[in-house]
Amino acid sequence: MKTRILGKDLEVSAIGLGCMGMSHAYGPAADKKEMTDLLLKAVEEGYTFFDTAEVYGTAENPHDNEELLGEALKSCRNRVVLASKCGIRFDEESKEVNKPLIPDGRPETIRTSLEGSLKRLQTDHLDLYYIHRIDRKVPIEETAGAMKELIEAGKITHWGISEADEDTLRRAHAVCPVTAVQNRYSMMYRDYEKLFPVLEELNIGFVAFSPLANGLLSAKYNKNSKFDAQTDYRSAMPQFTARAFDKNEKLIRYLEEMADKKNATPAQISLAWMLAKKPWIVPIPGTRKYDRLIENGRSADVELTKEEVKEIDRMLDILPMSGVFGGSKVE
Ligand SMILES: NC(=O)c1ccc[n+]([C@@H]2O[C@H](COP(=O)([O-])OP(=O)(O)OC[C@H]3O[C@@H](n4cnc5c(N)ncnc54)[C@H](OP(=O)(O)O)[C@@H]3O)[C@@H](O)[C@H]2O)c1
Repeated sequence: MKTRILGKDLEVSAIGLGCMGMSHAYGPAADKKEMTDLLLKAVEEGYTFFDTAEVYGTAENPHDNEELLGEALKSCRNRVVLASKCGIRFDEESKEVNKPLIPDGRPETIRTSLEGSLKRLQTDHLDLYYIHRIDRKVPIEETAGAMKELIEAGKITHWGISEADEDTLRRAHAVCPVTAVQNRYSMMYRDYEKLFPVLEELNIGFVAFSPLANGLLSAKYNKNSKFDAQTDYRSAMPQFTARAFDKNEKLIRYLEEMADKKNATPAQISLAWMLAKKPWIVPIPGTRKYDRLIENGRSADVELTKEEVKEIDRMLDILPMSGVFGGSKVE
């Protein structure tokens, strides 16, 4: 697979693998053996960028995802870039399927979390460590200072911020250069394009999470798709309601037409569109399925011209579109 550079020097596959859904938010955790095979196949296919977090797990096993990756990828650790995140916990008292998040960006929390992540990921360093959400009670300079110390100690090599805004990014970057932001970005959620100039100015990469609008943009779901109300966030996502499928019909049809024209699939067009925007954008679609892993990875070979990207943007401005999941509430 083609590669891209995040920040100054972090080389990653042009498409990364978002691993959250293997353990969290997309139904009960998937079978460990199957996911281990899938992760190893991803490496064979050229994926080198694997995304996890301290909190990707279930009530029974809160760190399921890091444990899975640690065990599955230990034999190829030196060939992969491991990215994890710290600085939030879920409000377990909440009855909602997507539980609110409680941020904690204190330096001591970051240091303790990292030790746990290193252990579960069976490694002595992480290649990219994000603060998962900004904690407005802790000045970002303190969080950045803690990341700087971890870099100096060789425990992480790069750091980043998830759901970053421009002001926080500038302040954080002044303390310790940020390698990447990880924000939501898809054809249905383009708000963070406003960050592109500052990312360009500061040479910071953009890791796009939920790049398929949680799967909707693959055009493989419909009104009859069923999601478990207890464990699957999609049961509460606005883009998966019956009314939303009606509202999004023209968008999905447009994607299918574009896909036919380019001899690709709607998911590939969705990913190729963001790859074509900037050379420092890296989507991390998540999947539990081998054929989709291949499909998503091959989107790196689908080339869209500047005119095609412009035309897609124009259509995205005018096509009717439902709301899209915006993440769990931060308390
Ligand atoms: N920083 C943050 O706060 C944050 C928040 C959310 C996510 N993330 C990261 O971003 C990654 C990706 O986000 P995401 O998983 O929420 O959303 P996504 O990648 O937009 O969508 C994932 C969903 O789409 C389906 N899918 C994937 N490829 C497909 C294809 N080619 N055809 C049909 N369906 C397809 C998957 O189902 P199957 O498994 O059944 O294929 C899964 O349900 C996560 O794994 C996580 O690492 C970070």
